[in-house]
Amino acid sequence: MSMKTPVLQETDHGLVLAEGDMELICDFTRLLPRVQADALNRELLVRAAKIRDFGGKALALDATAGLGEDSFLLAAAGFQVELFEYNEIIAALLRDGIKRGLEDPALRDIVSRMHLNEENSIKAMQRKDLQPDLILLDPMFPRRNTSGISKKKLQMFKQLERPCEEEQEMLEAALGLRPYKIIVKRPLKGPCLGDRKPGYSIEGKTIRYDCLVFPR
Ligand SMILES: C[S@@+](CC[C@H](N)C(=O)[O-])C[C@H]1O[C@@H](n2cnc3c(N)ncnc32)[C@H](O)[C@@H]1O
Repeated sequence: MSMKTPVLQETDHGLVLAEGDMELICDFTRLLPRVQADALNRELLVRAAKIRDFGGKALALDATAGLGEDSFLLAAAGFQVELFEYNEIIAALLRDGIKRGLEDPALRDIVSRMHLNEENSIKAMQRKDLQPDLILLDPMFPRRNTSGISKKKLQMFKQLERPCEEEQEMLEAALGLRPYKIIVKRPLKGPCLGDRKPGYSIEGKTIRYDCLVFPR
């Protein structure tokens, strides 16, 4: 089976990464059912992101934004979110998804709380010019379960992603910002990031969120 190289294409429904008849697009509309009030509060990430005395203006930093799904959930929960994505192709898809989201009345309120930074989050965190309350780390993990995405699309995505070889550095950069909480997304049975034991974890069927909480 020959693998074609995926290419970025402008289409009438937005920027897509196309390979044969397959398309990868950043489309926040498909997440709308998950951000209805009851559904949103059941989201594992939203439960993990709970911050005591959070007045609705907390700043989250998503160090590994990908196509922005987790950031969208955090923004729906009221966080202002700084997204970081260093892969140029993934960042282009995400930028386009955010642009279309801002034009869509059903998404605008949420997406307006999402700000994309197309750069390496480790370097940005080391500069210390942001003071997030919450940091989300979801570096690629080889055996992660990816139930929400078809196998073929996943292959396409995997061709773009390079393994994050700097997980320890990423965790240290995040710790250096002294946020209230760091959330690490892991496969259910995967090792802790940097072998650092979390304060607690919130587990789903295939993934878990390790939460490191620091006193203020
Ligand atoms: C597993 S995906 C994240 C998926 C994301 N949580 C979501 O909800 O769609 C990891 C992403 O982080 C990006 N990434 C990894 N290390 C990074 C870094 N140091 N700076 C910025 N982006 C990074 C990769 O390019 C990839 O797109």
